[in-house]
Amino acid sequence: MVTKEEILRALEREDLKELQMEGSLRDITRDVEIDQNGNLVLHIFLPRRGVEDILKIKLMNALGDIEGLNSVKVRFYTAQAGQHQQPPQGGMPQIPTLGPGLPPKRKIPGIKRVILVGSGKGGVGKSTVAANLAVALKKASYKVGLLDADIYGPSVPTILGLKNAVVSVNDNQKILPVEKNGLKVLSIGFMLPNEETPVIWRGALLMKAIQQFMFDVDWGELDYLVVDLPPGTGDVQLTLAQNLILDGAIVVTTPQDVALADVKKAVAMFEELGVPVLGLVENMAYFVCPNCGERSYIFGKGRVEEYAKRKGLEILAQIPTEPSVSEASDRGEPVVEAYPESLTAKAFKELARKVVKKVPIPQ
Ligand SMILES: Nc1ncnc2c1ncn2[C@@H]1O[C@H](COP(=O)(O)OP(=O)(O)OP(=O)(O)O)[C@@H](O)[C@H]1O
Ligand SMILES: [Mg+2]
Repeated sequence: MVTKEEILRALEREDLKELQMEGSLRDITRDVEIDQNGNLVLHIFLPRRGVEDILKIKLMNALGDIEGLNSVKVRFYTAQAGQHQQPPQGGMPQIPTLGPGLPPKRKIPGIKRVILVGSGKGGVGKSTVAANLAVALKKASYKVGLLDADIYGPSVPTILGLKNAVVSVNDNQKILPVEKNGLKVLSIGFMLPNEETPVIWRGALLMKAIQQFMFDVDWGELDYLVVDLPPGTGDVQLTLAQNLILDGAIVVTTPQDVALADVKKAVAMFEELGVPVLGLVENMAYFVCPNCGERSYIFGKGRVEEYAKRKGLEILAQIPTEPSVSEASDRGEPVVEAYPESLTAKAFKELARKVVKKVPIPQ
């Protein structure tokens, strides 16, 4: 049975830095009611209006891993003594797709479909998957753009060999993406003087870059825009989902248990944000012996499948660990381009076919 203490401990672990506040979720929790079936009601003090969504995501992050938690309801108190907001019904906290005062979600002009590539945890291969998916879609004759929305650690310029690229601005003051073999690419990396320059833009400034990436770019006509997200469930994801009509999210994971715990958070976040989860990509799923061709599941096998089955999610691709993937990426060529006949490249092309099937281009 889940205890109140367990909930409070979990709330204590989630800080409030994104709200520019000291302390943790526990500090703004006024009451915790939990029944024997794991149904939780949290009474949370709302420090200011407009931060409800970010608090709900943080609550999800804090509570997502607690076994036996059946539902979470959040009741917000505003500063006016003891006033309650209507609690959302059932499940994890509901994030309204259109909160009061938020502008309506828009489509980016000229772009037919926007696909996000995310993960709960860093280093699982999001950027590799995003770049190779974009190239595979382009090879299948679609007009494709790749947006590196990882403003905190952009790696698309490296993977695509565009480290020295710089963007230009057209007569209408719109940013023009860089083109590589017909693929349109934009990354904050193109706006920093060089690789060694630390990302000194912090917080608000970086988020301004995301705003610009959404609405101040002349992409031309695109069938698909693939978006490489920063790891985790933070403000970039929230900003994109609040402003744009998004057609689907792919969640990347590795086979280890620890990554899987994070993938659950990512899936929950997309669901709460109203972004359809197209499925999972299990990266580094197995290793193929270069001599005998035998597959070894060095990180274990079956855990991702089991989770996917339980959630009714499809595993869109199982990508092997292949040294040539990182070697090609490091020298600026995604594996789909560098070694189109490799097992890995074939897996990425299959992923692209599945994405097209799930999110076809409207005629
Ligand atoms: N299937 C694979 N086989 C071999 N190496 C891989 C594979 N996928 C990714 N890598 C390597 O693992 C490292 C991490 O990959 P990548 O940068 O794509 O992860 P990420 O999830 O985008 O990371 P971050 O969270 O930092 O953005 C890179 O060096 C990449 O080349
Ligand atoms: Mg990345």
